[in-house]
Amino acid sequence: MALSLGIACVRVTDNPKTLVEAGYDAMAGRYLAEFGEGIQDDPRARFIAELSKRLTPGADVVELGCGAGVPATALLAERFRVMGVDISSAQLALARQRVPRARFLKADMTALELPAESFDAITAFYCFNHLPLDEHQAMIAKAASWLRLGGLLLASFGTGGSRNEVEEWLGVPMFFASHGMDINRRHLADAHFTLLIDEHVRQGEGESWQWVLARADAP
Ligand SMILES: C[S@@+](CC[C@H](N)C(=O)[O-])C[C@H]1O[C@@H](n2cnc3c(N)ncnc32)[C@H](O)[C@@H]1O
Repeated sequence: MALSLGIACVRVTDNPKTLVEAGYDAMAGRYLAEFGEGIQDDPRARFIAELSKRLTPGADVVELGCGAGVPATALLAERFRVMGVDISSAQLALARQRVPRARFLKADMTALELPAESFDAITAFYCFNHLPLDEHQAMIAKAASWLRLGGLLLASFGTGGSRNEVEEWLGVPMFFASHGMDINRRHLADAHFTLLIDEHVRQGEGESWQWVLARADAP
């Protein structure tokens, strides 16, 4: 099936990663203008505060899907050693300007190789929902493998109910996918995460997110 969105003609079977990368490269400036100042009652600041309480200053943090670096990477980099990872060069260029204290890496998080048990925390805000459904579980397991024992994962998951889809968003065709909350919980449990916070947050116009702070425990 082909979707004509006025920007490009996209096959839903095309590689979702290519679509996501091209989409953010094209609209990074618009994303920054709309979300860079944060959103009303921004859950990122609240949950980063929860994470920060449990980490020591200088802790090693990987931020997956860091985007333009604001507000989240900037907040994290005030206290921690942060490496931001993103698939979009345009997002990373904005992040490097805005958060010079952090290191950045261009990568598809699902293909990223990092040393095992080397980080104190991994954060992932509004980015798991751009991974194909059948890659969520493996990505959670990968994140678990990078964390030191007792390390923390802070992430927002979509709650959409297991659909892969392409829709127009911020003027580009964008790939979205999310499981329901119980499946997210099962993926986390299977990767030996223990939930410390598991909160359903509704925001904006009908958006629904599952915010999770979870501890990596021994298998
Ligand atoms: C909605 S934005 C969120 C950005 C930032 N976390 C925030 O809170 O503003 C999603 C980000 O995830 C990145 N992303 C999506 N899929 C990715 C992947 N497979 N690997 C790395 N980054 C990815 C996108 O390029 C984009 O910058």
